[in-house]
Amino acid sequence: MGRVAPAHPLSLGRAERNMAEATIDLRGLPLAEAYDELNEQTRAVLEGIDDPVAAMATISALIHHGFGHLWTGFYRVVEPGNLLRIGPYQGTLGCMEIEFGRGVCGTAAARKETLIVDDVLAYPGHITCDARSRSEIVVPVLDGGGSLIAVLDVDSDQPAAFTEEDREGLERLMQWFRGLT
Ligand code: SME
Repeated sequence: MGRVAPAHPLSLGRAERNMAEATIDLRGLPLAEAYDELNEQTRAVLEGIDDPVAAMATISALIHHGFGHLWTGFYRVVEPGNLLRIGPYQGTLGCMEIEFGRGVCGTAAARKETLIVDDVLAYPGHITCDARSRSEIVVPVLDGGGSLIAVLDVDSDQPAAFTEEDREGLERLMQWFRGLT
C-alpha cells in the first residue's frame, strides 16, 4: 500500500485549514522565511473574516505555537490614550489592565511604536506577569484609519530573543488590522 503524503496546510479547504493541527512549527526556519510562512498562513486562515478579536486569537495561537514563545497576546485599547485591557492570548495568566505609559506595553502604546527590550529585568517599570520572562517585543496595532486598537506583546524566557527581523515580520503581520475600518 502506498503512503499518502499529508497535504500542506495551505492547500486544504478553509474548514480543514482551521483545524488545530494546521498550526505550523516555524522553529528551525530562517526568520525571514518563518515570517513569510506565518503571514501566508495567517492570511489564509483569516480569509473572509473581519473580526479583530477572532484575528487576535488566531494570530496569538499561530505566533505562540509557531515559535514556542513564553507568552503571546494582545492588550486592547479600551480608553484611547489612557488604558489597555487584556485581549486574546496564549500563555500563563496575563495582568488585566495596563495604563498608557506604564511598562513596555503601555510605553509602546503611548508612543505608537514598536519596542524591543533585550533585558526586561533592566527595564524601568517593566510589569512582571510571568517571572520567567527575560525579553520582549511589543508592536502597535492600528486600524484602517490609523487609530491604535491594541498592542501585540510577545515574551521570551531567553534574553535578547527578538531582533529587527522580528520587528519587521510582526509589523508586517499587524498590517492585517489595517484592512479594518
Ligand atoms: N510585559 C508587559 C506586561 C504584560 S505581560 O508580560 C503579559 C509590560 O511590561 O508591558
